[in-house]
Amino acid sequence: EVILPPGLPRRIDSFLGEYLSHKPTSVAVLSRSSSNGSIATDEGLFEQPELLPQSKASMENILWRRSMQMRAEQQTWQESPEGRKMLEFRGSLPAYKEKEAILSAISQNQVVIISGETGCGKTTQIPQFILESEIESAHGAMCSIICTQPRRISAMTVSERIAAERGELLGETVGYKVRLEGVKGRDTHLLFCTTGILLRRLLIDRNLKGITHVIVDEIHERGINEDFLLIVLKDLLPRRPELRLILMSATLDAKLFSSYFGGAPLVHIPGFTYPVRTHFLENILEMSGYRLTPDNQIDDYGQERTWKMNKQAPRKRKSQIASAVEDALRAADFKEFSPVTRESLSCWNPDCIGFNLIEHILCHICENERPGAVLVFMTGWDDINSLKDKLQCHPILGNTSRVLLLACHGSMASTEQRLIFDKPEDGVRKIVLATNIAETSITIDDVVYVIDCGKAKETSYDALNNTPCLLPTWISKVSARQRRGRAGRVHPGECYHLYPRCVYDAFADYQFPEILRTPLQSLCLQIKSLKLGSISEFLSRALQSPELLAVQKAIEYLKIIGALDESENLTVLGRYLTMLPMEPKLGKMLILGATLNCLEPILTIVAGLSVRDPFLTPLDKKDLADAAKAHFSRDYSDHLALVRAYEGWKDCERDLAGYEYCWKNFLSAQSMKAIDSLRREFYSLLKDTGLVDSNNTIYNSWSYDEHLLRAIICYGLYPGICSVLHNEKSFSLKTMEDGQVLLHSNSINARDSRIPYPWLIFNEKIKVNSVFLRDSTAISDSVLLLFGGTISKGEVDGHLKMLGGYLDFYMSPTIAEMYRSLRRELDELIHTK
Ligand code: CDP
Ligand code: MG
Repeated sequence: EVILPPGLPRRIDSFLGEYLSHKPTSVAVLSRSSSNGSIATDEGLFEQPELLPQSKASMENILWRRSMQMRAEQQTWQESPEGRKMLEFRGSLPAYKEKEAILSAISQNQVVIISGETGCGKTTQIPQFILESEIESAHGAMCSIICTQPRRISAMTVSERIAAERGELLGETVGYKVRLEGVKGRDTHLLFCTTGILLRRLLIDRNLKGITHVIVDEIHERGINEDFLLIVLKDLLPRRPELRLILMSATLDAKLFSSYFGGAPLVHIPGFTYPVRTHFLENILEMSGYRLTPDNQIDDYGQERTWKMNKQAPRKRKSQIASAVEDALRAADFKEFSPVTRESLSCWNPDCIGFNLIEHILCHICENERPGAVLVFMTGWDDINSLKDKLQCHPILGNTSRVLLLACHGSMASTEQRLIFDKPEDGVRKIVLATNIAETSITIDDVVYVIDCGKAKETSYDALNNTPCLLPTWISKVSARQRRGRAGRVHPGECYHLYPRCVYDAFADYQFPEILRTPLQSLCLQIKSLKLGSISEFLSRALQSPELLAVQKAIEYLKIIGALDESENLTVLGRYLTMLPMEPKLGKMLILGATLNCLEPILTIVAGLSVRDPFLTPLDKKDLADAAKAHFSRDYSDHLALVRAYEGWKDCERDLAGYEYCWKNFLSAQSMKAIDSLRREFYSLLKDTGLVDSNNTIYNSWSYDEHLLRAIICYGLYPGICSVLHNEKSFSLKTMEDGQVLLHSNSINARDSRIPYPWLIFNEKIKVNSVFLRDSTAISDSVLLLFGGTISKGEVDGHLKMLGGYLDFYMSPTIAEMYRSLRRELDELIHTK
């Protein structure tokens, strides 16, 4: 990453050579400010290029001078009153006591694993210990530390916090970089970034030149990116013997990592928390005179469970909590505890299950309990927003002079971020509604009460569909313990789990690693773009390798959609797909939408496929809801119905009538808003990759061509294809793999007895008893032939083989042959164009 300004004078040229030969591992970013002709490198600003050092010795001199300056600056801050206060706070964190042990382990070993309770100071202190010790030994200007975070929001809040602890502004010594955003300066020596950013850097800089320390945080979460990064780093270590790798975990199960890295030493930071009183659902009930008993013995998790409420005699006065619990139980009917299928989850209505209960527990705390903040763990930001809306209307909880209601999730505004950490005024109760981000990545100090809904959104892999989906699933025992632990940081605390004890007992011990439960398509593309060799060989070296079959399926899929060629090399399409961090099929739609100047509706469809289905179907009003949805469809497509619904909403939203519109049309306003913000995010991604030109205003000239939209949908969702076979009164559906399939009752196409097209292209199928297609768009033969699979030379044959299978299956051989030659000709044509 050496950027040379044009017309670089000779002397600077030789300086650069000198500079790089002196520090071959350094990343020099030279730029020249036109005003004063100064030259900047990542290690300092050279005001007068004429005086640039010519020799190695003077280069060393400059770095040394800069290091001394850093040391002096740090001393001045630490001696100031605020600096002293900060130092005192930092000294009180458990990590501080282990400082020497940690630093000596790092100096003696290439890889060190550090574990310690959440909040003990791993993320904020350990990178600082390293930085400070480098500054102390006058190597400050030479060190460059990168610390990865699984989430953008923690990279941002943590770097800001550390800058404050060092009495600096963000972007001086400490900075951050996340996708599309970042604050980093010339003198930044400690950089927080998302794991994805470091993986991208590896793309252009395989040896991480100039980086002295890599810290991978939150490894206990076992995210797919982190597991991937560890394989790459493990390969890199022998090539960069002076590079230090530090892994940090909030749980003690770090042995796996230690043996992965050849017995790397473990340093544990002992923590301290106050006792936390735990209430499971039955205790919450019993507290108020009710008892929950299982009808049948529970043996293992996933078994059908029925519950009944026994009123205890003599009956106590029914408290607010009891009635709320009773309502919640009645509403939930404990369907929740039956096997969690996607079907049952789609009818899961969070409004009636947990919300009343949470509201009443919050009320109970506000009315009766001693001061202390409340942390509520919810599943995702849409749930958080709905609950927040509900609570704001409550007479006690909505009273802003008594209650400070805040949300904490990955996409919160930065003003809100700061409020979360601040202590509220006396007499005001802080209530934070959070996703599992507050489990280990973000620590809110004054929490005394925790309410845990027991679920978190995690990507799960649906092997049948080969699609990832973000669904609320039960958390693990470790997560439940983490959540509970959040209540005991400053005082003895209380934790309310909104599920019975036996459900907790049935939780898995640990979170299942993401690499074993998500589809591997994107990961495979990334392996290829980083030129890491054979996909299956590479993945076999993971901490826990995914099944070979899953890997093969992913590779096969990537070949079918044209992202990899027959010999597993990235195609041009594949290279573009690696730049779009989303499922390849969605990426494909965006790419073709942008290419064909038809982006607006495609952005809506792609965003719509990434969020919860915005079409609501309340069980008691299904007919009305179906009629409302039918209103948006004229063309046998659930995807086009979504486009119309969104456009209608957008028009009303401008007149502040968005909610009313959603209410009338059985649409989820949260999903609409989510689609709206995702659209914007996808658009800027496309601009980033150069797929749309920001000056180009004609990228939407085809926006309403319905046939073209079908073509683009087909291009993305292929090979999700099924044939429509008509008989006298109705039609039947068949796919190659499943034979007979059915339409999900929510699909627009389920309501017609005739579909005047021979094919349906679909995004998702679900197996319950039969296989159901969830959403579909009807397409013609020619669209399938021209847009199914890939359009580019060289891949044509493989694709035709696949498509030929379909054709031979459903068509007479002569017609199939005719179509095949047509396709071949068209592919030639498109390619030569
Ligand atoms: O990473 P770990 O969970 O071990 O803890 P941390 O994030 O380094 O936080 C250590 C302490 O710093 C917390 O307990 C908070 O008291 C404080 N902190 C803060 O006040 N504001 C932040 N933005 C982050 C941390
Ligand atoms: Mg941390």
